[in-house]
Amino acid sequence: MTDIKKLFIRTYGCQMNVYDSERMAEALGAEGYVETDSPDDADMILLNTCHIREKAAEKVYSELGRYKDLKAAKPDLKIGVAGCVAQAEGEEIIARQPMVDLVVGPQTYHRLPDMVAKAGKGEKVVDTDFPAEDKFEELKARPKARRGPTAFLTVQEGCDKFCAFCVVPYTRGAEVSRPAERILREARDLVEKGVREITLLGQNVNAYHGAGEDGDWSLARLIRELARVDGLERIRFTTSHPNDMSDDLIAAHGEVDKLMPYLHLPVQSGSDRILKRMNRSHTAEEYLRLIERIRAARPDILISGDFIVGFPEETAKDFEDTMALIRAVHYGQAFSFKYSPRPGTPAAERPQVDAAEASDRLQRLQALINEQAAAVMAGMVGREIGVLFEKPGRMAGQMVGKSDYLHAVHVTADGIAPGDLRRVRITEAGPNSLAGALV
Ligand code: 5AD
Ligand code: SF4
Repeated sequence: MTDIKKLFIRTYGCQMNVYDSERMAEALGAEGYVETDSPDDADMILLNTCHIREKAAEKVYSELGRYKDLKAAKPDLKIGVAGCVAQAEGEEIIARQPMVDLVVGPQTYHRLPDMVAKAGKGEKVVDTDFPAEDKFEELKARPKARRGPTAFLTVQEGCDKFCAFCVVPYTRGAEVSRPAERILREARDLVEKGVREITLLGQNVNAYHGAGEDGDWSLARLIRELARVDGLERIRFTTSHPNDMSDDLIAAHGEVDKLMPYLHLPVQSGSDRILKRMNRSHTAEEYLRLIERIRAARPDILISGDFIVGFPEETAKDFEDTMALIRAVHYGQAFSFKYSPRPGTPAAERPQVDAAEASDRLQRLQALINEQAAAVMAGMVGREIGVLFEKPGRMAGQMVGKSDYLHAVHVTADGIAPGDLRRVRITEAGPNSLAGALV
């Protein structure tokens, strides 16, 4: 029998990192590692990192700094850096922070058991290849019992779009879609383990074109097939690019009951001049028409987005165009960021917007988005909607779940278990969550 060792994983960034962390824990689980919630009693610490903005990338080094004493007190402790910072910086990480034992990119973590064995012998190990083999196949089945009724499932990875601000095409590599049958198999396996909702993940998930039994399948086709899996109640997908919103996928929003009325469709800016400089290859008007068509297929759909303010050469007028687009769309949720110049990307070399001006724009944009999101939540009051319950709430007798529209909902009632999908009448909208009663 292998010794039991403790593994602490900290995950930064996007949902794909959450998925990857789970799979890394599974891969190391087979080597006798069990997860712990505290770095203090860990034998191995793994930081799964994000490189999307400078702030995210810098967090890694401040976190590593905090482990210095731990490592000094416990020389056998192994420290690994995984994810997109690992991919982008590789060996530099060890040069900058010599206590790191192991650097593993997002495409090679199926090799972790070997890497950890080498690190155990005192070697420094760096593996940031883009290997020919399919890591998902190497990882095999997902053995672990599930923690809750929702799960992420990566169906597509990488990006060929090369938006001028974005590191993803460099850190995650070229666009690759997993074969449909393997995704269906993984989905069935998750459902057998109690999962009721699956979020299909990809950096450009709606560009999915995986091999199916009768040629390449689109995301719409994959969703229609997943909808036939008994016991799977809800399907979501993220993140999408406007140019890959096919007619079939739009139609699916009106036709597939299990496909949730929530769509994350980033536009980044409402100015055609900036969109062009961002290399987005669509206009603001095209995006607005697309939203109209999606709403025609599914009138109650909640639209979510991403915005970058202070992109190089963004003028006050460009920013007002973004505000106008936001007013026209009326978002239920949105994520917004100050532009962060990223090494190796085209926009990093261009004239930057004044930082104070960018902060001011970000504040105004976020105030508008918050207003819209609050209005959408207030509009839920009185409606009867589906809620998938996940866990007990903070108050006695309370259960918390997510609505069809992805809002947190709490209900106080007997007899609700995690994994139950129930109809709830919304009675109250708070700033971050809704309250309701079982119908
Ligand atoms: N600076 C700021 N925000 C960025 N994003 C991507 N790259 C950058 C950058 N360099 C944002 C985009 C993207 C989201 C995941 O992160 O809005 O959609
Ligand atoms: Fe980055 Fe998304 Fe643009 Fe791809 S489509 S380059 S992941 S922002």
